[in-house]
Amino acid sequence: EINFFFPKKRTLAVIKPDAMEDHREEILEEIRGRGFSVTQLKETVLSREMAEEFYKEHREKPFFSQLVEFMCRGPCMMLVLSKENAVEEWRAMMGPTDPDKAKETSPQSLRARFAADILHNSVHGSSSEQHAEEKISFIFGDISTDAELTSDGETDK
Ligand code: PPS
Repeated sequence: EINFFFPKKRTLAVIKPDAMEDHREEILEEIRGRGFSVTQLKETVLSREMAEEFYKEHREKPFFSQLVEFMCRGPCMMLVLSKENAVEEWRAMMGPTDPDKAKETSPQSLRARFAADILHNSVHGSSSEQHAEEKISFIFGDISTDAELTSDGETDK
């Protein structure tokens, strides 16, 4: 089905180390339930160098080294999500960066439900389409066409 008015867009989603053990299946189910196609998916332990590169926009922030350390501490799930308005819709699903704020403004969001604090905040999502494409290439290499994948890597259709 081709929709000329709302073409599908992509975003990079990350399930962070703090959420991997207890919430990963629930998050994946919810992503699919909200109509995203998961077009790429891989579990990865980031090296320090990769985490530093991934968050290079925040290099000057006081929390940079904490953030890098945390992101390397265990496996992350990296996902390419495809949907109309993928960037905005995934960010809405995540809720605000700080879970205290998320609990006030969007109690159903993933961060309101699963995040412990602003550092251990369960999920990541690209902030713009341009960032999304840059981070997708960084994590997955250049993907020009996306086959639709299921979680065990089988083709969906
Ligand atoms: S900014 O400055 O608005 O661009 O930053 P923000 O998007 O809010 O956050 C970027 C990532 O940095 C983490 N973060 C923090 N970690 C520790 N302490 C503090 N105070 C803090 N503030 C922000 C936050 O988890 C964000 O991670 P991502 O993966 O981008 O959500």
